[in-house]
Amino acid sequence: MTFDLELIDLKKVYPGGTLAVEAFNLQVSKGEFVSFVGPSGCGKTTTLRMIAGLESITAGRLMIRGTDYTEVPTEKRPTATIFQNYAIFPHMTVRQNMEFGLKVRNLAADEIKRRVDSMLEKLELTDVADEKERVLSGGQKQRLALGRGLVTEPDILLLDEPLGALDANLRKSIQEELKVLQRELGITFVFVTHAQSEAISMGDRVVVMNSGRVEQISTPFELYTRPQSPFVARFVGRNKIIAGTLAGTDGDRTVIKTRFGTISGVPTFTQGTASEGAEAMAVVPSEYVSIQDVSAAEESGRDGVTGVVTQIDPVGHVAFVTVRLDETQEIRLETYRKKIEDMSLENGAEVRLTWLPERTSIVLDAA
Ligand SMILES: Nc1ncnc2c1ncn2[C@@H]1O[C@H](COP(=O)(O)OP(=O)(O)OP(=O)(O)O)[C@@H](O)[C@H]1O
Ligand SMILES: [Mg+2]
Repeated sequence: MTFDLELIDLKKVYPGGTLAVEAFNLQVSKGEFVSFVGPSGCGKTTTLRMIAGLESITAGRLMIRGTDYTEVPTEKRPTATIFQNYAIFPHMTVRQNMEFGLKVRNLAADEIKRRVDSMLEKLELTDVADEKERVLSGGQKQRLALGRGLVTEPDILLLDEPLGALDANLRKSIQEELKVLQRELGITFVFVTHAQSEAISMGDRVVVMNSGRVEQISTPFELYTRPQSPFVARFVGRNKIIAGTLAGTDGDRTVIKTRFGTISGVPTFTQGTASEGAEAMAVVPSEYVSIQDVSAAEESGRDGVTGVVTQIDPVGHVAFVTVRLDETQEIRLETYRKKIEDMSLENGAEVRLTWLPERTSIVLDAA
């Protein structure tokens, strides 16, 4: 099986010594939409630039459709890059901007016209073809930047925070357009963003990066439900996290001992690779946690912790409830306002937070 894009132990050390990317391994199939996400400075842009050939590769290999491109100059790579600021040439018209990359590649004039006309049409830019950047709307600029990359017919389109300059509403609608367009074209997209919600809503798979290293590569659903590291558990979604130590196994489940009792869950590491007493955490996505009266009959088959309500903040039809487990930990939970009313919940009430053990991931805390 040949992958569209393959990163093998990719590494980047900048002159001056900054280790920006290390041990990056990734295999991308044709037509896949992969998002890179992580905090500022984690190495997303550096990786994208190495793929584009805009930055040299310190060690490792870069393969595109089975061919080694590690040392191939940028203009000979079947990639196109779209930058956050779009880098549109202000003195050129929309049409000229689109023609630029094709002229650089010495395509025949009639071929250039054919491709540009069809891209203008596809991106609904025909009406502004003779306009310059300054009269374009945010969405039109974004589409021009996209068209300029796509018109070169790349195998792989690299996008570095291409929606960062747009306001929230436009961003949302362009996210959807981009996704539809990508499916239509069947081109592989590598999409960089620091917004986890965007990475998750756009990507077929998501690569979470932290300090130059890959933390996890998963489908969005896996990332939400089975974080493999403390970093991912905190960075992605809205997880409730309770720290403890490994205390044993119960069939396929792993049991940890915490200050609030034992908690069991699905290990996101191979059972047996960590010894008893090792630091670990139980991670439960917020939406699976429910709040119950402590006096209510214990529901069998649910895990949980007990605490005291310290704050209730109603916001419209939902309410945020803060539950203090002990002097070191509070859990804040979103629930329905009606539920708070039905339970006659007040500050000082003792409650139980419960969930199904299969929703829990047990994550090793290697730190
Ligand atoms: N040209 C350069 N020379 C030296 N160090 C650099 C250079 N470009 C980036 N770095 C460093 O490499 C690391 C990774 O930077 P990079 O730009 O790849 O991060 P990023 O994930 O894209 O961040 P952001 O979300 O802020 O765009 C950072 O520590 C950064 O300071
Ligand atoms: Mg960047």
